[in-house]
Amino acid sequence: MTTTFLDSVLRRTRAGIGTFPYPHQAAALLDNPWRRKVEKPAHSIDVIELAGTEHVLEIGPGAGYFSVELASRLPTGKLDLFDIQPQMLAKARRKLEVAGHHDVGYTAGQAGAPLPFPAGTFDAAFLAEVIGEVPDKQACVRSLAVVLKPGGKLVFHEAFLDPDRLSVAELRALCEPAGFILDRAERSRWKDIVRFRRTTVSRSSKAITNLDDTNTVIQKG
Ligand SMILES: C[S@@+](CC[C@H](N)C(=O)[O-])C[C@H]1O[C@@H](n2cnc3c(N)ncnc32)[C@H](O)[C@@H]1O
Repeated sequence: MTTTFLDSVLRRTRAGIGTFPYPHQAAALLDNPWRRKVEKPAHSIDVIELAGTEHVLEIGPGAGYFSVELASRLPTGKLDLFDIQPQMLAKARRKLEVAGHHDVGYTAGQAGAPLPFPAGTFDAAFLAEVIGEVPDKQACVRSLAVVLKPGGKLVFHEAFLDPDRLSVAELRALCEPAGFILDRAERSRWKDIVRFRRTTVSRSSKAITNLDDTNTVIQKG
């Protein structure tokens, strides 16, 4: 269920246009004073509950609105950024380098296809206002199930005014069949921050087919 009337209007308008990535030419608009007030990066990153040693994947970082905060929470860990637009990665990289984060991975590619990382690489994955733009959302979540470790966290930040905003119910419908369980959800009119955990058991055989053999997955049907 979409939380506001305006959200529904935006979604309907967007539905007529189709799915496409937020243009990198408008990246500056993602970092505006109003957003800094209502979507504080520190608050969203708090929900991941990082110890500082983890290997974290951020999908669709854009120009790095959340990435600097993420990197600063990983003093002995590692951050990898993955975005379909190399131009966005270049902008995020500039922001991270200025903030002194030089050991970040940058990979360009399609999140709705198998992710180019070995199975079980990551302790956590973070997606802020991205999943609605991915054409094959199920494939994306199945790929995330592969690259996350069992017990790994998958955190979505979905916010007001994003025409692609997914509700908590929609995220559950997407993630649970791929072997994730809802772990924590902070909901409000303005934003939802939703955390799942990757289980070792998948509820759909389709998801299992797509999981790598090295994963300890395990129940069919
Ligand atoms: C609305 S922007 C959000 C950027 C950033 N997370 C933020 O909150 O400021 C969406 C980002 O997801 C990326 N993206 C969209 N579709 C994608 C896909 N299929 N695969 C990988 N990245 C994608 C876009 O290039 C863009 O950087």
